[in-house]
Amino acid sequence: MSYALTFTATETDALWAEAADAAEALVAGEPDAIANMANVAALIWQAIPDLNWAGFYRFDGEELVLGPFQGKAACIRIPLDKGVCGAAARLRASQRVEDVHAFPGHIACDAASRSELVVPIVAGDRLIGVLDLDSPRPGRFAAEDQVGAEALVARIAAALAGA
Ligand code: SME
Repeated sequence: MSYALTFTATETDALWAEAADAAEALVAGEPDAIANMANVAALIWQAIPDLNWAGFYRFDGEELVLGPFQGKAACIRIPLDKGVCGAAARLRASQRVEDVHAFPGHIACDAASRSELVVPIVAGDRLIGVLDLDSPRPGRFAAEDQVGAEALVARIAAALAGA
């Protein structure tokens, strides 16, 4: 496994496919969920343009707790009835928010964030947490980004669960 990752695709779907391939290779054979989340956060940060935050919140059985990420320091605990992350976890459905200022209950960790994509991580039937991506650009995340991020998460969900 080489850790010198390069991403060459210019189309959104191809870029996410490259990122997913690299993520799967990175986590292969490693059972530690925190280590895997740390590497995947770094990988997404490198591969996907126009982000100001990329990382994970882990579900502790009650609320979301900050996990490995890239970007500025962020809020540590998010109840499931709060924020974009809480909605994704509670509903077990991705939340793609074009303008975070218009999202009721959005939690502003970094004032630069203008749009957000949050994908729930579910392994088997168990909620593991969420992948949270923030961008300083309004409307940064297209439907293709959501499809790509969901596919990446689906491929490595077991490794993010520590399986
Ligand atoms: N904006 C998120 C909180 C997490 S930070 O953006 C890193 C939310 O509303 O859930």
